[in-house]
Amino acid sequence: MSLEAVRYRRGRLLILNQLLLPGQAEYEEVGGVRAAWQLIRDMKVRGAPAIAIVGCLSLAVELHQREESVKEDLATFVRESLDYLVTSRPTAVNMARAAQDLSDFVVSEVQRPDSTAESLKEKLISRIEGLLEKDIRTNKIIGSHGAEHILSRAKTDKVIILTHCNTGSLATAGYGTALGVIRSLWSMGRLEHVYCTETRPYNQGARLTTYELMHDKIPATLIADSMVAMALKEKRISAVVVGADHIVANGDTANKIGTYQIAIAALHHGVPFYVAAPSTSCDLALESGEQIVIEERPVGELTDFNGVHVAAPGIGVWNPAFDITPHDLITAGIITEFGVHDPRELRKVLIDKIS
Ligand code: MRU
Repeated sequence: MSLEAVRYRRGRLLILNQLLLPGQAEYEEVGGVRAAWQLIRDMKVRGAPAIAIVGCLSLAVELHQREESVKEDLATFVRESLDYLVTSRPTAVNMARAAQDLSDFVVSEVQRPDSTAESLKEKLISRIEGLLEKDIRTNKIIGSHGAEHILSRAKTDKVIILTHCNTGSLATAGYGTALGVIRSLWSMGRLEHVYCTETRPYNQGARLTTYELMHDKIPATLIADSMVAMALKEKRISAVVVGADHIVANGDTANKIGTYQIAIAALHHGVPFYVAAPSTSCDLALESGEQIVIEERPVGELTDFNGVHVAAPGIGVWNPAFDITPHDLITAGIITEFGVHDPRELRKVLIDKIS
């Protein structure tokens, strides 16, 4: 079993094709930006942080092969590539945030009188390569903040966690966000059990989260999405922890479709509800969740199952890939690398930490 979504060394990028999991662990070479765009769109790699990392690394692979002599030409190529990558999965904000950071960096480098096309290329590649390690480091910090917070409020020695979608090593550079919190609890010996949803229609929970939980030998049970309310009522769940694709200034959060109804059910049953995500999933440019663009996916993801039609031909289909959980349903807090925050205070925390 492999838990590495991404394998990289300078000039070469491989991704684990997540469409084949859990049956086959097969790596696919990514030759450059166009190939990365397509495999992200096809969901061979998914999860907001992993999308950004693969997108940026595909640019590093292409940069490694290029031999521009004029720095402005290289800068144009980088900006156009980043703009293109951002269109692959519009709700996941991490790619857009990384693109902004790299574009700003390019502008400042090009302005330096001593910079050359070669030095720009070298610095960009190094900056992109740094993203892999930074993401894993951040996730481990998120994991320990989340675990400590959950335990400080728990009424039992060991806790039971419910999670949705896949937020683990396969959705990030490694370790994971919500699944990182679960991994931290497990390593502390304070996790009794995990309930993970199958996460229709794409089954990231059934195919990928179960794969990661079984890899780490974490005691876990798979449930259908429609069983969440019943599980919250019957299974002594201590907390719900989910990831995020886009968190905006007021704390509203876009995450995998189904998250919103889990938050409603958690509130009804008095179960603390957490969102775990790196600050690179936060976006202070948008004020509220209503402004987030929600990706709609192809109808076949709902009408077909493993290539077999399961719905009557001609039926109408609506397939939004994400929903918005309003900040007041995130009752226990948003976990970032900076700590656990009341969603209404997230803006202030981010401004304080970033400035
Ligand atoms: O459509 P996906 O599989 O890319 O959606 C993934 C999610 O919604 C995750 O919860 C989110 O990206 C956080 S992953 C650390």
